[in-house]
Amino acid sequence: MKRYGLIGNPLGHSFSRKYFLEKFQREHLSGIDYLNFEIKDLPSEIPPLKQDPELCGLNVTIPYKTDIISYLDKISPETAGIKACNCIRIRGGIWEGFNTDITGFKESFLPLRRAEQNKALILGTGGSSRAVAWVLQTEGIEFLYVSRTASPEKGIIDYSMLTEELLETYTIVINTTPVGMYPHVHDCPDIPYSLVSRHHYFFDLVYNPDPTEFLIRARARGAVIKNGSDMLSIQAEESWKIWNS
Ligand SMILES: NC(=O)c1ccc[n+]([C@@H]2O[C@H](COP(=O)([O-])OP(=O)(O)OC[C@H]3O[C@@H](n4cnc5c(N)ncnc54)[C@H](OP(=O)(O)O)[C@@H]3O)[C@@H](O)[C@H]2O)c1
Repeated sequence: MKRYGLIGNPLGHSFSRKYFLEKFQREHLSGIDYLNFEIKDLPSEIPPLKQDPELCGLNVTIPYKTDIISYLDKISPETAGIKACNCIRIRGGIWEGFNTDITGFKESFLPLRRAEQNKALILGTGGSSRAVAWVLQTEGIEFLYVSRTASPEKGIIDYSMLTEELLETYTIVINTTPVGMYPHVHDCPDIPYSLVSRHHYFFDLVYNPDPTEFLIRARARGAVIKNGSDMLSIQAEESWKIWNS
Protein backbone atom coordinates (compact mmCIF):
# COMPACT_ATOMS: atom_id res chain seq x y z
CA MET A 1 0.00 0.00 0.00
CA LYS A 2 1.27 3.48 -0.92
CA ARG A 3 0.07 6.19 1.40
CA TYR A 4 -0.18 9.97 0.85
CA GLY A 5 -1.82 12.56 3.05
CA LEU A 6 -2.42 16.08 4.27
CA ILE A 7 -1.00 17.65 7.44
CA GLY A 8 -2.88 20.62 8.91
CA ASN A 9 -5.42 21.73 11.47
CA PRO A 10 -8.35 21.96 11.12
CA LEU A 11 -8.92 19.76 8.07
CA GLY A 12 -12.73 19.52 8.12
CA HIS A 13 -13.44 20.93 4.65
CA SER A 14 -10.07 20.31 3.06
CA PHE A 15 -9.94 19.95 -0.70
CA SER A 16 -6.96 17.61 -1.09
CA ARG A 17 -8.29 14.27 0.17
CA LYS A 18 -11.41 14.44 -1.99
CA TYR A 19 -9.34 15.56 -5.00
CA PHE A 20 -6.82 12.71 -4.73
CA LEU A 21 -9.34 9.96 -3.91
CA GLU A 22 -11.36 10.97 -7.00
CA LYS A 23 -8.16 11.07 -9.06
CA PHE A 24 -7.11 7.55 -7.91
CA GLN A 25 -10.55 6.24 -8.84
CA ARG A 26 -10.68 8.05 -12.20
CA GLU A 27 -7.21 6.83 -13.16
CA HIS A 28 -7.82 3.28 -11.83
CA LEU A 29 -4.89 3.54 -9.39
CA SER A 30 -5.13 0.77 -6.79
CA GLY A 31 -3.15 -0.01 -3.61
CA ILE A 32 -3.00 3.69 -2.83
CA ASP A 33 -4.68 5.92 -0.23
CA TYR A 34 -4.77 9.60 0.80
CA LEU A 35 -5.40 10.39 4.48
CA ASN A 36 -6.00 13.51 6.54
CA PHE A 37 -3.55 13.95 9.43
CA GLU A 38 -5.18 16.58 11.66
CA ILE A 39 -2.11 17.36 13.75
CA LYS A 40 -2.33 19.26 17.03
CA ASP A 41 1.34 19.16 17.99
CA LEU A 42 4.13 18.82 15.39
CA PRO A 43 6.97 17.79 17.79
CA SER A 44 5.07 14.77 19.14
CA GLU A 45 3.12 13.79 15.99
CA ILE A 46 5.72 14.04 13.20
CA PRO A 47 8.21 11.43 14.57
CA PRO A 48 5.63 8.56 14.43
CA LEU A 49 4.76 9.55 10.83
CA LYS A 50 8.47 9.34 9.99
CA GLN A 51 8.37 5.66 11.02
CA ASP A 52 5.58 4.81 8.53
CA PRO A 53 7.29 2.85 5.70
CA GLU A 54 4.23 3.18 3.43
CA LEU A 55 4.07 6.98 3.53
CA CYS A 56 5.32 8.35 0.18
CA GLY A 57 4.22 11.97 0.19
CA LEU A 58 2.41 14.70 2.11
CA ASN A 59 0.71 18.00 1.47
CA VAL A 60 0.93 20.64 4.17
CA THR A 61 -1.63 23.34 4.93
CA ILE A 62 -2.48 25.98 7.54
CA PRO A 63 -0.97 26.42 10.12
CA TYR A 64 2.15 24.31 9.44
CA LYS A 65 3.56 25.47 6.07
CA THR A 66 6.49 27.23 7.78
CA ASP A 67 6.93 25.19 10.98
CA ILE A 68 7.18 21.87 9.06
CA ILE A 69 10.45 23.02 7.45
CA SER A 70 12.52 22.22 10.57
CA TYR A 71 11.41 18.54 10.27
CA LEU A 72 12.64 18.16 6.66
CA ASP A 73 15.94 16.66 5.50
CA LYS A 74 16.11 18.72 2.28
CA ILE A 75 14.21 21.68 0.80
CA SER A 76 13.94 23.14 -2.70
CA PRO A 77 15.38 26.63 -3.35
CA GLU A 78 11.82 28.06 -3.67
CA THR A 79 10.81 26.57 -0.32
CA ALA A 80 13.90 28.11 1.27
CA GLY A 81 13.22 31.44 -0.48
CA ILE A 82 9.65 31.86 0.77
CA LYS A 83 9.99 29.82 3.98
CA ALA A 84 6.82 27.88 3.20
CA CYS A 85 6.41 24.21 2.24
CA ASN A 86 3.14 22.64 1.09
CA CYS A 87 4.44 19.40 -0.44
CA ILE A 88 6.81 16.73 0.95
CA ARG A 89 8.32 13.87 -1.06
CA ILE A 90 9.35 10.89 1.08
CA ARG A 91 11.87 8.55 -0.46
CA GLY A 92 14.23 6.17 1.37
CA GLY A 93 13.31 7.84 4.66
CA ILE A 94 14.36 11.28 3.34
CA TRP A 95 11.72 14.01 3.66
CA GLU A 96 12.19 16.69 0.95
CA GLY A 97 10.11 19.89 0.92
CA PHE A 98 8.68 21.77 -2.07
CA ASN A 99 6.22 24.60 -2.68
CA THR A 100 3.62 23.86 -5.34
CA ASP A 101 1.54 27.01 -4.61
CA ILE A 102 4.23 28.77 -6.67
CA THR A 103 3.50 26.66 -9.77
CA GLY A 104 -0.26 26.77 -9.07
CA PHE A 105 -0.29 30.56 -8.91
CA LYS A 106 2.11 31.05 -11.82
CA GLU A 107 0.25 28.81 -14.26
CA SER A 108 -3.22 30.08 -13.36
CA PHE A 109 -2.31 33.78 -13.07
CA LEU A 110 -0.08 34.42 -16.09
CA PRO A 111 -2.38 33.48 -19.00
CA LEU A 112 -4.80 36.36 -18.33
CA ARG A 113 -2.16 38.97 -17.57
CA ARG A 114 -1.69 41.59 -20.29
CA ALA A 115 1.79 42.85 -21.15
CA GLU A 116 1.06 46.43 -20.03
CA GLN A 117 0.02 45.19 -16.56
CA ASN A 118 3.37 45.32 -14.81
CA LYS A 119 2.56 46.51 -11.27
CA ALA A 120 0.61 44.55 -8.68
CA LEU A 121 -0.96 45.12 -5.28
CA ILE A 122 -0.80 42.07 -3.01
CA LEU A 123 -3.55 42.20 -0.38
CA GLY A 124 -2.39 40.37 2.78
CA THR A 125 1.04 39.43 4.05
CA GLY A 126 0.52 35.79 5.10
CA GLY A 127 1.96 32.50 3.85
CA SER A 128 0.37 32.46 0.40
CA SER A 129 1.39 36.08 -0.29
CA ARG A 130 5.02 34.94 -0.26
CA ALA A 131 4.38 32.41 -3.06
CA VAL A 132 2.61 35.15 -5.04
CA ALA A 133 5.47 37.62 -4.46
CA TRP A 134 8.01 34.99 -5.56
CA VAL A 135 6.21 34.54 -8.90
CA LEU A 136 5.78 38.30 -9.47
CA GLN A 137 9.45 38.86 -8.76
CA THR A 138 10.58 36.13 -11.15
CA GLU A 139 8.24 37.56 -13.83
CA GLY A 140 9.58 41.11 -13.35
CA ILE A 141 6.25 42.45 -12.06
CA GLU A 142 6.72 45.20 -9.45
CA PHE A 143 4.54 44.77 -6.37
CA LEU A 144 3.36 46.54 -3.24
CA TYR A 145 1.99 44.80 -0.13
CA VAL A 146 -1.28 46.07 1.36
CA SER A 147 -1.88 45.03 4.97
CA ARG A 148 -4.20 45.87 7.86
CA THR A 149 -1.07 47.30 9.48
CA ALA A 150 1.21 49.64 7.54
CA SER A 151 4.93 49.03 7.96
CA PRO A 152 6.76 51.93 6.26
CA GLU A 153 10.23 50.45 6.93
CA LYS A 154 9.23 47.34 4.92
CA GLY A 155 7.37 49.33 2.25
CA ILE A 156 3.99 47.89 3.30
CA ILE A 157 0.96 50.22 3.09
CA ASP A 158 -2.45 49.84 4.72
CA TYR A 159 -5.87 49.89 3.03
CA SER A 160 -6.51 53.58 3.84
CA MET A 161 -3.47 54.51 1.71
CA LEU A 162 -4.95 53.18 -1.56
CA THR A 163 -5.26 56.38 -3.61
CA GLU A 164 -6.63 56.98 -7.12
CA GLU A 165 -3.06 57.41 -8.36
CA LEU A 166 -2.01 54.03 -6.93
CA LEU A 167 -4.98 52.19 -8.42
CA GLU A 168 -4.26 53.78 -11.79
CA THR A 169 -0.68 52.50 -11.76
CA TYR A 170 -1.10 49.15 -10.05
CA THR A 171 -3.46 47.47 -12.47
CA ILE A 172 -3.09 43.97 -11.00
CA VAL A 173 -4.77 43.34 -7.62
CA ILE A 174 -4.30 39.96 -5.92
CA ASN A 175 -6.25 38.91 -2.84
CA THR A 176 -4.17 36.59 -0.64
CA THR A 177 -6.37 37.15 2.45
CA PRO A 178 -9.13 34.76 3.53
CA VAL A 179 -11.65 37.65 3.39
CA GLY A 180 -14.79 36.66 1.45
CA MET A 181 -14.26 32.92 1.90
CA TYR A 182 -17.34 30.77 2.63
CA PRO A 183 -19.38 31.25 4.86
CA HIS A 184 -18.52 34.99 4.91
CA VAL A 185 -19.50 35.33 1.27
CA HIS A 186 -20.62 38.99 1.44
CA ASP A 187 -17.27 40.21 2.80
CA CYS A 188 -14.53 41.62 0.58
CA PRO A 189 -11.18 43.35 1.06
CA ASP A 190 -11.57 47.03 1.94
CA ILE A 191 -10.37 48.68 -1.26
CA PRO A 192 -11.94 51.54 -3.31
CA TYR A 193 -13.79 49.48 -5.96
CA SER A 194 -15.09 52.68 -7.61
CA LEU A 195 -11.52 53.21 -8.91
CA VAL A 196 -11.44 49.83 -10.70
CA SER A 197 -11.64 49.86 -14.49
CA ARG A 198 -11.29 47.62 -17.54
CA HIS A 199 -7.52 48.16 -17.28
CA HIS A 200 -7.41 46.00 -14.14
CA TYR A 201 -6.82 42.30 -13.56
CA PHE A 202 -8.16 40.98 -10.25
CA PHE A 203 -7.02 37.57 -8.97
CA ASP A 204 -8.45 35.95 -5.83
CA LEU A 205 -6.72 32.98 -4.18
CA VAL A 206 -10.06 32.19 -2.53
CA TYR A 207 -12.04 29.66 -4.59
CA ASN A 208 -15.24 29.27 -2.54
CA PRO A 209 -17.61 30.95 -3.34
CA ASP A 210 -17.07 31.22 -7.07
CA PRO A 211 -16.94 34.12 -7.74
CA THR A 212 -16.15 35.96 -4.50
CA GLU A 213 -17.59 39.40 -3.67
CA PHE A 214 -14.11 40.85 -4.44
CA LEU A 215 -14.29 39.48 -7.98
CA ILE A 216 -17.98 40.33 -8.47
CA ARG A 217 -17.26 43.98 -7.66
CA ALA A 218 -14.20 44.11 -9.92
CA ARG A 219 -16.02 42.43 -12.82
CA ALA A 220 -18.88 44.94 -12.50
CA ARG A 221 -16.30 47.69 -13.17
CA GLY A 222 -14.97 45.93 -16.28
CA ALA A 223 -11.89 44.22 -14.81
CA VAL A 224 -10.67 40.80 -15.92
CA ILE A 225 -11.09 38.34 -13.04
CA LYS A 226 -9.78 34.92 -12.01
CA ASN A 227 -10.36 32.90 -8.84
CA GLY A 228 -8.19 30.33 -7.05
CA SER A 229 -9.76 27.07 -8.25
CA ASP A 230 -7.31 26.42 -11.11
CA MET A 231 -4.45 27.32 -8.78
CA LEU A 232 -5.72 24.70 -6.35
CA SER A 233 -5.93 21.86 -8.84
CA ILE A 234 -2.61 22.80 -10.51
CA GLN A 235 -0.80 22.75 -7.13
CA ALA A 236 -2.33 19.33 -6.38
CA GLU A 237 -1.24 17.90 -9.75
CA GLU A 238 2.21 19.41 -9.26
CA SER A 239 2.47 17.56 -5.92
CA TRP A 240 1.55 14.34 -7.69
CA LYS A 241 4.29 14.95 -10.29
CA ILE A 242 6.86 15.62 -7.55
CA TRP A 243 5.89 12.46 -5.62
CA ASN A 244 6.28 10.40 -8.79
CA SER A 245 9.31 12.09 -10.31
N1 LIG B 1 -6.24 28.63 -4.44
C1 LIG B 1 -5.22 28.07 -3.80
O1 LIG B 1 -4.59 27.12 -4.31
C2 LIG B 1 -4.78 28.63 -2.49
C3 LIG B 1 -3.49 28.35 -2.00
C4 LIG B 1 -3.11 28.90 -0.77
C5 LIG B 1 -4.03 29.69 -0.06
N2 LIG B 1 -5.28 29.90 -0.56
C6 LIG B 1 -6.25 30.73 0.17
O2 LIG B 1 -5.66 32.00 0.37
C7 LIG B 1 -6.14 32.56 1.59
C8 LIG B 1 -4.94 32.99 2.43
O3 LIG B 1 -4.14 31.90 2.78
P1 LIG B 1 -2.86 32.10 3.75
O4 LIG B 1 -2.32 30.75 4.01
O5 LIG B 1 -1.94 33.11 3.20
O6 LIG B 1 -3.59 32.64 5.05
P2 LIG B 1 -3.06 33.44 6.28
O7 LIG B 1 -1.56 33.37 6.33
O8 LIG B 1 -3.83 32.98 7.46
O9 LIG B 1 -3.58 34.95 6.01
C9 LIG B 1 -3.20 35.74 4.96
C10 LIG B 1 -3.19 37.22 5.35
O10 LIG B 1 -4.48 37.76 5.20
C11 LIG B 1 -4.61 38.91 6.01
N3 LIG B 1 -5.85 38.77 6.77
C12 LIG B 1 -6.20 37.75 7.59
N4 LIG B 1 -7.43 37.97 8.11
C13 LIG B 1 -7.85 39.16 7.60
C14 LIG B 1 -9.02 39.95 7.78
N5 LIG B 1 -10.02 39.55 8.58
N6 LIG B 1 -9.12 41.12 7.12
C15 LIG B 1 -8.11 41.55 6.30
N7 LIG B 1 -6.97 40.84 6.11
C16 LIG B 1 -6.85 39.66 6.74
C17 LIG B 1 -3.39 38.95 6.92
O11 LIG B 1 -2.46 39.91 6.42
P3 LIG B 1 -2.27 41.33 7.15
O12 LIG B 1 -2.13 40.99 8.62
O13 LIG B 1 -1.03 41.86 6.57
O14 LIG B 1 -3.47 42.16 6.89
C18 LIG B 1 -2.83 37.55 6.79
O15 LIG B 1 -1.46 37.48 6.99
C19 LIG B 1 -6.99 31.47 2.25
O16 LIG B 1 -8.34 31.74 1.97
C20 LIG B 1 -6.57 30.19 1.54
O17 LIG B 1 -7.59 29.24 1.49
C21 LIG B 1 -5.67 29.39 -1.76
